[in-house]
Amino acid sequence: MTILITGGAGYIGSCTTLKILQTLDTKCIVVDKQETSNLQKLLISFPNKIVFYKLNMCDLTSLEEVFKNYKIKSIIHFAAYTIVSESEKQVYEYLSNNINSTLNLVELMVKYNVENLIFSSSASVYGNAKYVPIDEEHPTEPQSTYALSKKICEQIIQKYSSKGIKFITLRYFNPAGCIENLGEEHDPETHLIPILIKSILEGKTFKIFGNNFPTKDGTCIRDFIHIEDLVNAHIISLEKLINNEKINEIYNVGINKGYSVMDVLNKSLEILKKDTNKNFNFIFSEPREGDVPILVANSNKIQKHLGFKPRYDLEDIIYSVWKYEKQKISI
Ligand code: UFG
Repeated sequence: MTILITGGAGYIGSCTTLKILQTLDTKCIVVDKQETSNLQKLLISFPNKIVFYKLNMCDLTSLEEVFKNYKIKSIIHFAAYTIVSESEKQVYEYLSNNINSTLNLVELMVKYNVENLIFSSSASVYGNAKYVPIDEEHPTEPQSTYALSKKICEQIIQKYSSKGIKFITLRYFNPAGCIENLGEEHDPETHLIPILIKSILEGKTFKIFGNNFPTKDGTCIRDFIHIEDLVNAHIISLEKLINNEKINEIYNVGINKGYSVMDVLNKSLEILKKDTNKNFNFIFSEPREGDVPILVANSNKIQKHLGFKPRYDLEDIIYSVWKYEKQKISI
């Protein structure tokens, strides 16, 4: 079996590639614009099971080379620009990159008879929650360009299901945590947990973006899903899709529990007590553009349809990031 993983050098893509190669008898074709440290680690661990193409998926001709060279059975599509705040400043770049790459992909899937697609979407498509926890029936009213691009991609994929593509779309809530030696290595890093843990270990000032949101303590509330659980959701979805047990479905992936930024800060300080650098402190600053006050999942549908059950909670995420960052310091 050959699986194409777009964005396989990124955080979620590389963790998924790792688990796929550890659990399924398959070869992975990784397509990405960038070579990352996570990709290098994978290439070292699985030299004969990964083929890497460094390319821009908006370039149809170079993407088509991959389809010409390999008989692909299934695709997991992660490749996208993903930073909510950045997307407000780079509207054209986000829409053209995320939409055109998806459009090229589905067009080639039809041309080369590739049937199975797992699409990486986002809870941000829901916008401001009208009720929580948020189920898949909740209206989608994207509040950022990034979220809009994901909503449009979902619609494109839905459209192409009439041309023979079978899909499962996963709307992630807030992925975080590390698997083995793979973690978040965004440049610049914008995500709460890696920034916070590094600030605690290195004694930096941590900024909380906004403390006037309509939540219990004024800081935003998110549903943090451990990367290992999220990756498992992909593997289960892929298996069900290949076996035609579930097709053309959209699933939320979260743990049905919300933690505020302040909760995450307090829990991290509690866990990292011995390792907290004495210079660490935090301040409140202006809210970030595009941030919504609360995103908490109702993930009952994926649990019921696919038997997916998250195994980890916030503490496990914090421990895994702590371990990962400590190991980097000691190298
Ligand atoms: N935050 C801080 N300080 C920081 C970093 C983040 O206070 O230094 C806050 C943010 O303002 C937000 C919360 O922590 O309130 C979570 O922020 P993240 O950047 O970690 O995650 P987001 O919720 O912005 O976005 C993530 C993914 C998106 C996805 C979204 C869905 O990056 O792709 O979750 O919930 F759409």
